Amino acid sequence: MTAVVADFDVPSGTAVNSGAANVKSKTTLESNICQCLGFEFLSVSPRVRYGNIKSRATLELWMSCKQATSEDRILAHSDRRADHKTPLEARVSGPLAGKVRVPGDKSISHRALILGALAVGETRISGLLEGEDVLNTAGAMRDLGAKVERTGNFAWKVWGVGVSGFAEPGAPLDFGNSGTGCRLVMGAVAGCPITAIFDGDASLRARPMRRVLDPLELMGARVAEGGEGGRLPLTLKGARDLLPITYRTPVASAQIKSAVLLAGLAAPGVTTVIESEASRDHTELMLRFFGADIVSAQEGKHGRKIALTGQGELHGEEVMVPADPSSAAFPIVAALIVEGSDLVLPDVMTNPLRTGLFTTLREMGGVIEESNVRGDAGEPMAELRVRASKLRGVEVPPERAPSMIDEYLVLAVAAGFAEGTTIMRGLQELRVKESDRLEATAAMLRINGVSCEISGDDLIVEGKGHVPGGGLVATHMDHRIAMSALVMGLASDKPVKVDDTAFIATSFPDFIPMMRGIGAEFS
Ligand code: S3P
Repeated sequence: MTAVVADFDVPSGTAVNSGAANVKSKTTLESNICQCLGFEFLSVSPRVRYGNIKSRATLELWMSCKQATSEDRILAHSDRRADHKTPLEARVSGPLAGKVRVPGDKSISHRALILGALAVGETRISGLLEGEDVLNTAGAMRDLGAKVERTGNFAWKVWGVGVSGFAEPGAPLDFGNSGTGCRLVMGAVAGCPITAIFDGDASLRARPMRRVLDPLELMGARVAEGGEGGRLPLTLKGARDLLPITYRTPVASAQIKSAVLLAGLAAPGVTTVIESEASRDHTELMLRFFGADIVSAQEGKHGRKIALTGQGELHGEEVMVPADPSSAAFPIVAALIVEGSDLVLPDVMTNPLRTGLFTTLREMGGVIEESNVRGDAGEPMAELRVRASKLRGVEVPPERAPSMIDEYLVLAVAAGFAEGTTIMRGLQELRVKESDRLEATAAMLRINGVSCEISGDDLIVEGKGHVPGGGLVATHMDHRIAMSALVMGLASDKPVKVDDTAFIATSFPDFIPMMRGIGAEFS
């Protein structure tokens, strides 16, 4: 049985419509929550209760489905999951086949909630990713005064407070495992005359925040208290009239760019972000869609210059979230390496700043066909058909990294099954993700019998056309390590085991049942 999860502190007498009956007693309520979710309920002390609800976000989602009253207060400590692991093993599987829609894009889901909260009027979102990262952003938007409601499966409504309109939150904003949620909201808070505490789980507390705080401080926000190197937890003081700045991002990062642009919404005049290598442009596209005055132009060979005129109003919009290419990456690589597979993935976002993996897999000989190409709110999408393919090693240039930054782990799995050497260049940013993904990728490969080498910021994988497997992979609170290793096990000679699947819920809550549904053997 998996473990903890949440201490919840629901005032007794709170009426929560839990199925048929209105539950009045606190203990019955808590036990009912666990039972409804199919979890074990253990009362360990009067205040601390254990079940396997994975986090505050999951619990909040459940509560919102069940129309819990807004007074219900839920305290959760998701980092405790580190002590209660849920291992899983993947083994060689028959052909993967079928048609499955992977969940909504994580980047777009965060942005739809945040822009909805900064807009005037109602924003309707369909296809929202209901993973923990995004649910934490939804919770933060609520804590900052926006009204956020789940209206159906993956359907949400947000009533915004307007640019600079956030209210001071009564408790720390908890972003769990999510760097994107945390950093983007820092930008949005910077332009409001409020003080907010930002926090997250152990993985997020270890990640650098200075990269976002530096430009926000240049604009006039202040960090009142924070850990070394701007680590969480930290207290950010915003200001209504920030200074517009021109900022050249030190690394290609959509999170830095987005934080500056979201802060720039509150600044009089033009805030400019220059990046020498273009990062994903969802913030720019969605800001324009919500009515912001924003222009973007080519800068040098690979870069962009984005100029936003602040203090305009955003208006609520209807956002349809396409399927996440970074989540699609797992079934795609699985279908390429498992013999006889033929898989269809509808509605996958094909924004060119996100599809470096697809380009690379095609160069390796992967058969990935696109049909039904269309667009919504400036974001292109297509249906992908993937068939098992013989792969060969390739060299991936460093300038492609921003368009596939989250996909190197699973590309390394494909590289292990390829014939020949794959060289992935310019991976320095992998060191500051949910874990040090450069080291973690090498460790995952080595423990499963694949030779590889880290040379500076490059990863070199020696593909032998098959992977021995048999290793136990440490996931380091990182969802993408868990999913990549499980994909590897579907075609390796011996099974591959991961030590913990809990963090998969941050981005792809249905990964395990969805993969089983197309034929994956997990036990
Ligand atoms: C994201 C940007 C990327 C990516 C992350 C999502 C975003 O981070 O790794 O998963 O939605 O803006 P960086 O901007 O730090 O590269």
